[in-house]
Amino acid sequence: TTNGHTSGQTIYLGAFAHCTALQEVEICEAGAIGVDSDGKIAFIERDIGDIPAYQLRERKEGWEHAKFVQIQDQGFFFPGFIDTHIHASQYPNSGIFGKSTLLDWLNTYTFPLESSFTDLTKARRIYARVVNRTLSHGTTTACYYATVHVEATNLLSDICLSKGQRAFVGRVCMDQLSPDYYRDESTEAAIEATEACIAHVSKIDPKHHFITPIITPRFAPSCSEGCLSALGKLAKETGLPIQTHISENKSEIELVAEMFPSSKSYTDVYDKAGLLNSKTILAHAVHLTPEERALVRSRDAKISHCPASNTALTSGAAPVRVLLDEGLTVGLGTDVSGGYSPSILEEARQAILVSRHVAMVDGDAAKLSTEEALWLATRGGAKVVGLENRVGGFEVGMDWDAQMISLDVVSEDGELEDAQNKGPVDVFMWESWPDRINKWFYGGDDRNTAAVWVKGRLVHATPKYRG
Ligand code: GUN
Ligand code: FE
Repeated sequence: TTNGHTSGQTIYLGAFAHCTALQEVEICEAGAIGVDSDGKIAFIERDIGDIPAYQLRERKEGWEHAKFVQIQDQGFFFPGFIDTHIHASQYPNSGIFGKSTLLDWLNTYTFPLESSFTDLTKARRIYARVVNRTLSHGTTTACYYATVHVEATNLLSDICLSKGQRAFVGRVCMDQLSPDYYRDESTEAAIEATEACIAHVSKIDPKHHFITPIITPRFAPSCSEGCLSALGKLAKETGLPIQTHISENKSEIELVAEMFPSSKSYTDVYDKAGLLNSKTILAHAVHLTPEERALVRSRDAKISHCPASNTALTSGAAPVRVLLDEGLTVGLGTDVSGGYSPSILEEARQAILVSRHVAMVDGDAAKLSTEEALWLATRGGAKVVGLENRVGGFEVGMDWDAQMISLDVVSEDGELEDAQNKGPVDVFMWESWPDRINKWFYGGDDRNTAAVWVKGRLVHATPKYRG
């Protein structure tokens, strides 16, 4: 089975932290989390004090033979990150966007690269790298856009499954206003190709333990009304989730108004097509009107906030505080390669910085806190992808999708205590636990991500992880 790599019962010992509410991170300094051979959390001890590990094991009936994974140095376990919006195919273009804005960026950088995924050797090289890279940054679940190509999209599903990343994989549909060299020939072709990708996932992971196909109209301008409605119908028949872009850029919004004159708004275009439901992930949502937000809310559709991309392409600053206050469900998306980084930690920082810019105009209430940004990166993302009962936090019955964060301790002579550990964050050991988490949040990167698990399976480890 796909669980073949899961290794018996394991007890994870040491500090752990996770989000318990939008504004709240729970930190346990001396915890023990028991993970069963099915990858699920079986018990959580919040304060084991100084009990030696073997005694703890003997105290737990049925856990006498469990192995231990002890936190290293001054680190902590943290839930895996959830990237609710990333274009796997655009990964080679990370950082390459010049001064473009959305519509010319698509034509200049994006479509030429995506169109090259007819080359499966190239597709394999890129997809293997982006999955490795996101795993190394602690992304345990990702919502991927692939390209229009069926074979390459199926390859992305295969690679996610074999590397053990939880993924939603979308074959991109675009049957109008796209370049001749990169488009669907017809609505029928788009639907047929989407169905082929759904069938492939049914073969490799029929119960969607790890991989779920996701219906992916690129965005309204690149889909005919017929294509949008057919995809809405397919979503209804299959019950599969949907992902698309919405209200990212002012010119895009004007274009949608021109192209869909009978719709009341951009949001209404999707709603009319049957594409707006509780399994819909809308990326960006920068410029939604109050009426559109109310419609999104009434359909319980979800929002992927992509601040790095919104800044890079000068799309705008999404009003996250307003979205949250109105009861919308929000997670974070790197939007590679509109966004330049594959890291959700970086995205969470960008969410905070963008919120500060919004606050400089709209007032202090707009500011997001570290706790809130971490919540969006984990619990919020889990809700966006409909997995809030499975991942995003540490609760009995949930899956062990987790990362081991390590921090480097400064010795008396100003060197690092473990010279092999050269992460970006120095801890002097007088910091409180919340302060350590803030130092990681603002200064940390994948050098701090010592190990990563999905459903109990080790999917990434650095040399400094002593498993
Ligand atoms: N809108 C339509 N396609 C795209 C894309 O690839 N990236 C972003 N950021 N927005 C889009
Ligand atoms: Fe995008």
